[in-house]
Amino acid sequence: MTSLTINGVSIDVEADSDTPLLYVLTDELLLQGPRFGCGLAQCGSCSVLVDGIETRACVTPIATLKDKSITTLEGITAYYAAKSGLASIPQSTPVQDALVAEQALQCGYCYNGMIIKATELLLNNPDPSDAEIRSAMNGHLCRCGTYPKIISAIKKASLMIRVAQQGEDDTITEGLA
Ligand code: FES
Ligand code: FES
Repeated sequence: MTSLTINGVSIDVEADSDTPLLYVLTDELLLQGPRFGCGLAQCGSCSVLVDGIETRACVTPIATLKDKSITTLEGITAYYAAKSGLASIPQSTPVQDALVAEQALQCGYCYNGMIIKATELLLNNPDPSDAEIRSAMNGHLCRCGTYPKIISAIKKASLMIRVAQQGEDDTITEGLA
């Protein structure tokens, strides 16, 4: 029995301690966000956040995750809200909204990893350069080849986040006036 904290909930899981997290998420907890792709830490489709850091669940034994906070796609809106200081949890994050707006979806198999990684990036750096986006997303494979639209969506999400932050700053400034 291993105790894990997943999307803010403490859960005792039955799997052996050397079991990769991905199998616990999909087979024991029946989550549908993280997906099996390569199983070799090479495609990113299984990604989760562990203490805020994008992590390949397919090669991460659950024994290494005690006392750590795991966020899956199912918890990404709550995580984003908490990290961004939002008063309520939105239905979707700017990254998710921008991926839809850019019509970047094709089969969608890669999107779990793309959303997890882009969210990590923009929370750490709300205004990344093209080079920083490409560097961050390197290692997240899209079999449909929608990379240009994914990059455009991340830039759009960056803009959405910065505009929202500016709006809050303006509100604060007005409140002080
Ligand atoms: S399934 Fe984990 S990186 Fe490909
Ligand atoms: S949209 Fe099909 S793998 Fe990326």
